[in-house]
Amino acid sequence: MEIFTYPAIYDTAFQFRSAEDTVDFIEECVRMYTHIPVRSILDVACGTGHYTLEFARRGYRIQGVDMNDDICQYARQKATDESLDVDILCADMVDFSLPRPCDLAVNFFDSLTYLTDRRQVSRHFLAVADALVSGGLYVLEIGVIDDFENHNLEEVWTERRRDFAVTATYFRDGAIDPECGTFIERCAFRSTCREHHSYLVLKQKKLALYFYEFAELIDHVGCFTPLVYFDDFASEAFLPEDARPWRVVAVLQKN
Ligand SMILES: C[S@@+](CC[C@H](N)C(=O)[O-])C[C@H]1O[C@@H](n2cnc3c(N)ncnc32)[C@H](O)[C@@H]1O
Repeated sequence: MEIFTYPAIYDTAFQFRSAEDTVDFIEECVRMYTHIPVRSILDVACGTGHYTLEFARRGYRIQGVDMNDDICQYARQKATDESLDVDILCADMVDFSLPRPCDLAVNFFDSLTYLTDRRQVSRHFLAVADALVSGGLYVLEIGVIDDFENHNLEEVWTERRRDFAVTATYFRDGAIDPECGTFIERCAFRSTCREHHSYLVLKQKKLALYFYEFAELIDHVGCFTPLVYFDDFASEAFLPEDARPWRVVAVLQKN
């Protein structure tokens, strides 16, 4: 059944995230941290378009980039179903270019650490800088490992869309590969639709990045200046100085 595709399962399992609240937060960042009028936005590693479409609903010119062809097709179909004008490019976030620079870039749900090599991360920042106007903001939600234990708990939840239900189990291996500086994240999805069932297990290698390393990388690449760090999508949720974070929302500005 069409519904048992990976993008549909993923999109259902993670639909609990409020795209409205997150885009409200991004708009607040724009008001607070840039004078550039934002009309065009780049959603890096846009996935199934969970946030991409919310920007389109608010009238922004939105361009998504994702390297997974099935996911790109799914996001395009969702946009078509809502009669939204969304441009999705199937490309690697390490090496892509846009016809015109955007005013703002975003990157949600820890997609940066899918790049498991620090040189790729550096090249990624250069590619995004190229895709942005001067002074444009890049807002990223990244997972860091300062509080690695925080995520060794297994999480299980169920999300439903009419008669389609997905029970997801998320966990990550406790060990970091000392040679590669990576760890393994696992997600299992049990989906049911009436009498049909499917079971899908994803194993993803991710970059084990400390917050200070992230900051050093930005400094080393040189094309962005960090303006502010949050630990949530809330304008008062500034990351405390002495935090041991597991997640950071970084607001960077292109130099
Ligand atoms: C955790 S999902 C997040 C998707 C979306 N940002 C969201 O919040 O729903 C990560 C996405 O990154 C994409 N991805 C991973 N590596 C990529 C790369 N090198 N270039 C572009 N997209 C990539 C995957 O295909 C996947 O859709």
